[in-house]
Amino acid sequence: MAELTNPIEIQFPPQVLFGTDALARLPDWVAEKGYTRPFVVADAVNAGRLELLGLNGVVCFGAVIPEPDVNNLSDAVAAVGDTDLVIGFGGGSAMDLAKLVAVMAGQNVGLSEISGPHRAPARSVGLVQIPTTAGTGSEVGTRALVTDPATNSKVATESRHMLADLAIIDPALTISVPPAVTAATGVDAMAHCVEAFTSKRAHPIIDEYARQGVGLVGRYLKRAVDNGSDAEARGGMALAAFYGGVCLGPVNTTAGHATAYPLGTRRKLPHGIANALMFPHVLAANAPAVPEKTAIVCDALGFRSGTPEEIRAGAIAFCASLGLDMRLRAHGVPQEDLGIMADEAHAIRRLLDWNPVDLNRDRILEIYRQAW
Ligand SMILES: NC(=O)c1ccc[n+]([C@@H]2O[C@H](COP(=O)([O-])OP(=O)(O)OC[C@H]3O[C@@H](n4cnc5c(N)ncnc54)[C@H](O)[C@@H]3O)[C@@H](O)[C@H]2O)c1
Ligand SMILES: [Fe+2]
Repeated sequence: MAELTNPIEIQFPPQVLFGTDALARLPDWVAEKGYTRPFVVADAVNAGRLELLGLNGVVCFGAVIPEPDVNNLSDAVAAVGDTDLVIGFGGGSAMDLAKLVAVMAGQNVGLSEISGPHRAPARSVGLVQIPTTAGTGSEVGTRALVTDPATNSKVATESRHMLADLAIIDPALTISVPPAVTAATGVDAMAHCVEAFTSKRAHPIIDEYARQGVGLVGRYLKRAVDNGSDAEARGGMALAAFYGGVCLGPVNTTAGHATAYPLGTRRKLPHGIANALMFPHVLAANAPAVPEKTAIVCDALGFRSGTPEEIRAGAIAFCASLGLDMRLRAHGVPQEDLGIMADEAHAIRRLLDWNPVDLNRDRILEIYRQAW
């Protein structure tokens, strides 16, 4: 694992602005590039503060729902009109839809024609991503996820054409995120780093981003949850989310996300909460295959490594300290669903094939039972 000579390709947006007041530079960038017809894709919270963008003549689709589905995407594409610049303004839900809108605008293609890797057409419009949660890292990535209600699965689309021309990460935008969403999205950022770090596809370059990201989460997530106005903590978490996004590109997640997805698609649990609920159990299940890396993760998050049971208990306590109820049943998951969820999670081969331990369907069911 993690040979120094392993090949890897890393793609970043050509321009990333990070830091307090980074957003103030957007109008000059737009003017310099000559864009005049911006189309903003936002959730309701961010659609209510478009003035922060400092742009004139903005048209906005402001109805992005959390964990968007294909219908929400169709509505956004239908609203696009004659734009020359798509701006994603919100959490991962808005940014993922913005990526898809940007490659679908004026192209007359449906999601089924572009989903999967490297099928999306080249964009005819610009793309800017502005995260307002510190979680998904979608702002620096090439991937977008939407739910297909017909199959209860997340459809992943991935293309270099979905990479932003500009990402603006301004931690001040996350000050208003409520504690529960701060906790959930922060655990998502951490999960991106941990799962990439322990993946069979782990790479020394990405390992460094992953370690930094987990360290930042250990230092700042609880502070950001306890005091949303803590600017340093918000900055630390915005950076952790960015690092997590870097981890997603070439390495991506493994069993944590695979087992979390059915909770989102079936029970509509927010992506971060779903990841938090599964994190301790997957960390414990994987520990025997990647003991050193697991110990580094435990240390960075402030609990002791040890037996899988001790690791599970430490990770549960870490998440619970953020205010999360860590039992699946407390989130409305019926016990009789665990079997079908195990079937669905086991089918997500694009992630599970890279998990350090080969988890068969029954082992996944056991993990769900432990989490229930
Ligand atoms: N593209 C990727 O690589 C990637 C990675 C991980 C997750 N995702 C996807 O991202 C989505 C989840 O994104 P998310 O966790 O950022 O949540 P989200 O975008 O669904 O937002 C969660 C909630 O927070 C609100 N919100 C957003 N910013 C706010 C702010 N500044 N103040 C107050 N409220 C605010 C939103 O309105 C929403 O109700 C899922 O669909 C998931 O599958 C994508
Ligand atoms: Fe995620």
